[in-house]
Amino acid sequence: MVVVKSVNELKKQVGRLRDEHKSIGFVPTMGALHQGHLQLVSRCVAENDACVVSLFINPTQFNDKNDFNRYPRTLENDIALLASVGCAIVFAPSAEEMYTPSEMETVFDFDFGGLDEVMEGIFRPGHFNGVVQVVSKLFSLVTPDKAYFGEKDFQQLAIIRRMVQVMIFPIEIVGCPIVREKSGLALSSRNALLSEQERTTAAVIYRTLSESKQLMHEKTVAETKAWVIDRLNAIDGLKVEYYEIVNGNSLQSITDWSDADYVVGCVTVYCGKVRLIDNINYK
Ligand code: PAJ
Repeated sequence: MVVVKSVNELKKQVGRLRDEHKSIGFVPTMGALHQGHLQLVSRCVAENDACVVSLFINPTQFNDKNDFNRYPRTLENDIALLASVGCAIVFAPSAEEMYTPSEMETVFDFDFGGLDEVMEGIFRPGHFNGVVQVVSKLFSLVTPDKAYFGEKDFQQLAIIRRMVQVMIFPIEIVGCPIVREKSGLALSSRNALLSEQERTTAAVIYRTLSESKQLMHEKTVAETKAWVIDRLNAIDGLKVEYYEIVNGNSLQSITDWSDADYVVGCVTVYCGKVRLIDNINYK
């Protein structure tokens, strides 16, 4: 496995793979790797001749400076983990390597077709502009045949699919299921910021989503939504930012279970100071 820090070195490495007619799979990450990331990487290794992983805490997608500053940084450990699962190239650039100073100052413009006007888009203004900005750059550099994203970041996955369509990237986007702890808590780099007690509390999030799925046949969409929000807010230490039950393709809220064939419930909950997201597939 090679670890490269510069754009030029990455281009050389990718050029070599292309000269050898190797297929390239790509997993973009912000590091602090856990089994959720490693599931994506293992699949990428299995399905491509060479797997490229980026480790880059992208400053332009953080609308909250504190969140950026507190984000866990575990580069050496991440590199060791990637070597152990068969990754070929790790790309770990600095912000200066990825952006000109003016790019860091201005909001990247992209036509999201409305996908950014709901959920995370409302509570994290500019977040998806930064995601599209960095992922489009990474796609141009890595030129992958396939790129792997987790369904945990459900809205991000929908936006990446749209970006690929709009920018006509010849890349297959592969969505991968959410990896959870035994307790049901979705694995997240931010879980490292939870205390033991908070970790136990946070497990209620998925339990509640799962229970709501059992109840969906007796309740309307509005009742189910209110039930989830009330149950979570009743737990000491949890505070719901939003819970939306949406058409899984358009991300628009539904009012009746028959409004869409693909229905997903997306939640963001603060557990103490830590912002956690999760989702569940209703149908
Ligand atoms: P990051 O949060 O590091 O996540 C990298 C990838 O891992 C994303 O596609 C995310 O959905 C996936 N992932 C995280 N936790 C997961 C879990 N428990 N189960 C399955 N997949 C999981 O998402 C980002 O980084 C950034 O926005 C990025 C796309 C790298 C752009 O900067």
